[in-house]
Amino acid sequence: MLCQSIVMDPNEKQHLYDLTLGAIRELIEAETDPIAVMATVVCELHHRFDWFDWTGFYRVVSPGLMKVGPYQGPHGCLEISFDRGVCGAAARLRRTQIVPDVRAFPGYIACSSSTRSEIVVPVLTPQDELVAVLDIDSDQPDAFSEVDRINLETLCRMVGRVG
Ligand code: SME
Repeated sequence: MLCQSIVMDPNEKQHLYDLTLGAIRELIEAETDPIAVMATVVCELHHRFDWFDWTGFYRVVSPGLMKVGPYQGPHGCLEISFDRGVCGAAARLRRTQIVPDVRAFPGYIACSSSTRSEIVVPVLTPQDELVAVLDIDSDQPDAFSEVDRINLETLCRMVGRVG
């Protein structure tokens, strides 16, 4: 049994990602529907990582606007524009955002008062079109590291291929 803690050794965390990405790869291998893929990804991540307290996608629905997609956790905001919050910054800059303390992030959108840290990863197609962002919130401070960024970016490339 792996230790489920944010202070997990980076090698143990990597091992948990290896198992999770392997499982997701098998589950979505033949799937071509983006919502089915997103729902499966969110379910696997949310239940394998104890400190992921909100796990979900925001999908680009029109220029500069995202609507909530498949998610697990408490109620999430229904829509986010590119000029707001951590999700908006990730979409606008097309770059992963790691926020160790959400209270220090200007314009942070608080969907849950218990959230302390957050990572948001853009989902790009092989043609470099932004289709969504993956947003993960934790009630633990400083829960996300380079290990999370590298593995979640790999995962989002898999999602982006289904676009
Ligand atoms: N905190 C996010 C909004 C989404 S919810 O946390 C689910 C943000 O600032 O973009």
